[in-house]
Amino acid sequence: MGRDPDDSPFTPGFGNLPRVIAGRKDEFHDLERMAERLARGIYQQPRLVTGDRGMGKTVVLRALEREQIELGRWVVRSSATRGDAIVGRLCRDLAALLYEHDLAGALKQTGREALRRLAGVTISTRGVRAEVAPVTGVDRADELERLLSSVAELADERETVLLLLIDEAQNIELGALGDLFHALQEVQGIVIDERDADTGALQRRSLPLGAVVAGLPGLVRRLKDAGSTFGERSRPVPLRAFTDADMREGLPALAAEGGAVFDADSLEATMAACGGYPYFLHVVGDQVWAAGDGEVITATDARRGIDRSRPLIEEFYAARLRDLGELQRRYLHAAARIDARERTPGTIAAALERTSAKLASTQQKLIHDHGLLRSRSDGRLEFALPGLDDHLRELADPG
Ligand SMILES: Nc1ncnc2c1ncn2[C@@H]1O[C@H](COP(=O)(O)OP(=O)(O)OP(=O)(O)O)[C@@H](O)[C@H]1O
Ligand SMILES: [Mg+2]
Repeated sequence: MGRDPDDSPFTPGFGNLPRVIAGRKDEFHDLERMAERLARGIYQQPRLVTGDRGMGKTVVLRALEREQIELGRWVVRSSATRGDAIVGRLCRDLAALLYEHDLAGALKQTGREALRRLAGVTISTRGVRAEVAPVTGVDRADELERLLSSVAELADERETVLLLLIDEAQNIELGALGDLFHALQEVQGIVIDERDADTGALQRRSLPLGAVVAGLPGLVRRLKDAGSTFGERSRPVPLRAFTDADMREGLPALAAEGGAVFDADSLEATMAACGGYPYFLHVVGDQVWAAGDGEVITATDARRGIDRSRPLIEEFYAARLRDLGELQRRYLHAAARIDARERTPGTIAAALERTSAKLASTQQKLIHDHGLLRSRSDGRLEFALPGLDDHLRELADPG
């Protein structure tokens, strides 16, 4: 039995759910525990999933959504585009969720009003409509709070948990971001006091509303700019490159999905070529897969596949560098030439014969807007994409 080159279990792309999830065990453990504790009425900090492009944020949200829905939880997953469209999208998604659970008639009046005012959405046993014009000049944070609390109360009555999963949060315009997170915090702060029917003891619990917000690393700074304390109050879930252990487990599991096995050499070579970057795992894995048709993926397949994936990876780097300004480009080249152990704003500035202060905004843009560099806690700078430093060294230096 061989493997079919056309039936690759690798799925290069963005936003797709891979056939096997590699790594991320601690992250899923934390998120699952969050949902379980919410189900017991225990307040849970929102989770802030950050990571560079292609690091697997959407995969985490999608896999969590699937798993939690299977457990009977109410999940709304919305992806933000630029501006404040996320508010309307959340309204429609929440209304659709209630409708699917036959709860169109159960939402209380304040929740209904909020849906109408925020997004012109009406909900009835006949369905969800978004035809009425939204009301202008409403207090968006207040209305969102009413909406979220009324849906979370329904979840509480039905003994389930309402989970809001918000993707691409770095796109949300500052005002909407502030309002949304203010509302979330207020509703998560609501406590319900109840006497236990048997013992008479006073019991206190929180509304079962959880939030997982995902975005590029610059999101944390945007939250601060929005005047929101959400960043500080939420629990960070930073997604980093896969470790060798993640890949050593994940790559063979993916290959097994397609009915093949890596031999030890091809596994090591493929791991090294991916550099732990989830997106590259699929780009390289797919080429290595297609380079042969035996049941065993051999070192020759790996070599051939890695060679074939090289132009795809080069093109990916080139696309990431395309809209940089000249100084930003020079900054990156200088950073790539400096040994990783010595790569600090100071040594880069010295290489460019400037002061760090003069280059501060260039550095900030490369970190926060382009997500190409990362600032380490020890003061050094590192490249966010594996292999980008090698790529830059191979390119002609702009001077
Ligand atoms: N844990 C994982 N196991 C296997 N494949 C993964 C994993 N995480 C991500 N991938 C794959 O890597 C690619 C990028 O993942 P994803 O789209 O989730 O990244 P992202 O962080 O959301 O990127 P962006 O910021 O561009 O939205 C996808 O092809 C996805 O299938
Ligand atoms: Mg994504």
